[in-house]
Amino acid sequence: MRLDKLVSNCGFGSRKEVKYLMKQGLVTVDGQIVTKPETHVDPTVCKVCVGEHVIEYEKYSYLIMNKPAGVISATYDEVEQTVCDLLEDRYVMGDVFPVGRLDKDTTGLLILSNDGGFAHRVLSPKKKIDKVYHAALNKPFGEKEIKAFEAGVVLDDDYKTMPAGLLSLDEDGLLAQVTIKEGKYHQVKRMFAAVGINVLALKRVSFAGIALDEVLAPGEYRRLTDAELDKVSNLLSKD
Ligand code: URA
Repeated sequence: MRLDKLVSNCGFGSRKEVKYLMKQGLVTVDGQIVTKPETHVDPTVCKVCVGEHVIEYEKYSYLIMNKPAGVISATYDEVEQTVCDLLEDRYVMGDVFPVGRLDKDTTGLLILSNDGGFAHRVLSPKKKIDKVYHAALNKPFGEKEIKAFEAGVVLDDDYKTMPAGLLSLDEDGLLAQVTIKEGKYHQVKRMFAAVGINVLALKRVSFAGIALDEVLAPGEYRRLTDAELDKVSNLLSKD
């Protein structure tokens, strides 16, 4: 791995800032000053220091974000603001991407990582990972819709969804909690549309057993804790 990328990924500034640090002779590899940013190092073997600080290299990053409305789930876009635009440089440099997609107007829990294998496994429909949403609706729902979701709903492209959980969060049936195990395009909105109801607002509150951290303001993120990662690993290890 390039030394400037490694140092930047570990939170010591942008690549440009790291190049400057290197020029100053502040970066050492196994005790030797290295000034060439393009130098390749194996961070699992070498001891890399910035001044007195020993770099602790983590190959993969796993983040939880409270996605705000108006931001798209992509790494880069010419026009729109993306969730990756909200990340510190080091994560962008580290090739972090959104694990799955939420619509531009959907808010709530989004996982971001640079671990492609993890993303693949957690998004695989075979794994039947729960995604839980809160939806504000234009019309109340009742038993009929709960049964329809339980049986699987036929969407506008004739796809029949897996069974989904639907329950009411208020007395008048205008606020719903929906649990789905797959992630088809606009799935929750299309499931409600199939029973004649419009979704006015949608928020993901849980994914793979990880709950949205309400301490995170919209647009804020943090690293997943070891306990949260263990929870996901346990789910993924089940058949
Ligand atoms: N279902 C939707 O309709 N939109 C989302 O963003 C996520 C699930």
